[in-house]
Amino acid sequence: MTHPAARIIREEHSALGAMLRSMRMLIAAGPRDERERFFDVLRTMLFYIDEFPERLHHPKESRVLFPKVADAAPELVQVIGRLHADHASGERRARELQHQLLAWELLGENHRQTFVVAAKSYIEFYLAHMHLEEREILPAAERVHSDADLQEMDEVFARDRDPFASGVADPCYDRLFSRIVLGMPGPMPAGSLSCPAQA
Ligand SMILES: [Fe+2]
Ligand SMILES: [Fe+2]
Repeated sequence: MTHPAARIIREEHSALGAMLRSMRMLIAAGPRDERERFFDVLRTMLFYIDEFPERLHHPKESRVLFPKVADAAPELVQVIGRLHADHASGERRARELQHQLLAWELLGENHRQTFVVAAKSYIEFYLAHMHLEEREILPAAERVHSDADLQEMDEVFARDRDPFASGVADPCYDRLFSRIVLGMPGPMPAGSLSCPAQA
């Protein structure tokens, strides 16, 4: 699928994938002697995931992309059902993670393992979800032949872009991006986060 909607979806997946891999790296490294910075960056990452992918990217897929693909490729109905379920559970899991992180930060090391296990599971779950969409849904979206449907998809995905993926600087979010990028210990994983304001 070469329509703008597919390009935007891939860009947003790429930005989120970079964020998830950075989060995995940060968790593996642990707080060390920079406890305040560690929790601050993780909290900011989880806020971003809750703010953009969960509230904007997923609803657009569920409301617009999936129904049109289901019409064009009925054999994917089961896959789409699983992806819908992922969307429903993903938002809940993101909120739980924010709570579990606060528990570790505020209540102590007894709560560390709960967060680490849940975060690793969530990261793998999310990467697999995006991979499935790219492997099954986006190619099938090429079979949506109605011009009106294609136009609707393009318009919907062009709205409320994830500023992390769009590369367009947004002063409202510059601080959020800077906080993550500058707060990470050491170099970022290849192809990963870049603050639009710094691009
Ligand atoms: Fe999705
Ligand atoms: Fe997606």
